[in-house]
Amino acid sequence: MRTEDVAYLAQMLRRRCGILLTQSKPKFIEGRLAPVMRRFGFKDVSALVAELRHGRDALGRAVSEALTTNESSFFRDPDVFAAFRDSVLPALLTRRQSVKRLRIWSAACAAGQEVYSIAMILDDLKLSSRGWSVDLIASDLSADMIARAEQGVYSHFEVQRGIPPDRFVAHFLEEGAHCRVSERLRRMVTFRTFNLLDSFGWLEDVDIVFCRNVLMYFEPRAKAAVLDKLAEVMLPDGYLVLGRVETTKGLSDCFRPLPDMPGFYAPIAAALPRAAAG
Ligand SMILES: C[S@@+](CC[C@H](N)C(=O)[O-])C[C@H]1O[C@@H](n2cnc3c(N)ncnc32)[C@H](O)[C@@H]1O
Repeated sequence: MRTEDVAYLAQMLRRRCGILLTQSKPKFIEGRLAPVMRRFGFKDVSALVAELRHGRDALGRAVSEALTTNESSFFRDPDVFAAFRDSVLPALLTRRQSVKRLRIWSAACAAGQEVYSIAMILDDLKLSSRGWSVDLIASDLSADMIARAEQGVYSHFEVQRGIPPDRFVAHFLEEGAHCRVSERLRRMVTFRTFNLLDSFGWLEDVDIVFCRNVLMYFEPRAKAAVLDKLAEVMLPDGYLVLGRVETTKGLSDCFRPLPDMPGFYAPIAAALPRAAAG
């Protein structure tokens, strides 16, 4: 693989998705791109890059998606979901008691494990029968991931990685080698293909954003821009949830970490872009 091809792929990934290609070993790139090369009929990466330079959008999308990491699991980092269930959610339900409305966004949902974990916790509370309106939105850059998430079909291995037996019985149906998330959970979620580099104009008044394990792959300027945009669409007393190795520190003045709640951040009202503008 030629150095200039790797450089072209890195630059394209950064421009399209904000992501830094840190793994530039030919074996890694060729492995990730093998299915795309088969699908579009290229004999090697150089031929694929030559075509990319002509600007074929479908190919650019497929290559970007192949080079991004979609790893996820149900109840990933269980302490985060415990804090969501035991602290964040009760506090928000108290504060929103008069409006009985919640909006939760899983902003890089991969194949849906994160949003269905949230949905299971919400389902325990039977909020709709208590008059609450809950918007649960899940988005991802990858249309393939969104299609998988919408189907809600997982291997036994994927399910066993995070779902305890009682939740399995309540929310999954076995279909041969696979397990399907119940219709009830699927109906709770609105899915959408969305690139975090694009405008957040379609969203407002979000109570909780789960934006976990995606900004860690971004270059610093893109991380900062996404964090500032997140602050704009969140309610001032909302919560941002980041992944284990992610932080807002040094990137955005719009959030502060919440003490004793690793991964959780609160907007800083005075620093919110819309407060500053108004
Ligand atoms: C490692 S997964 C994280 C999934 C889940 N949030 C979790 O923590 O388990 C990262 C996801 O971010 C998505 N992604 C990468 N760049 C993105 C972008 N610019 N906009 C939206 N999603 C993006 C990828 O498609 C991938 O599904």
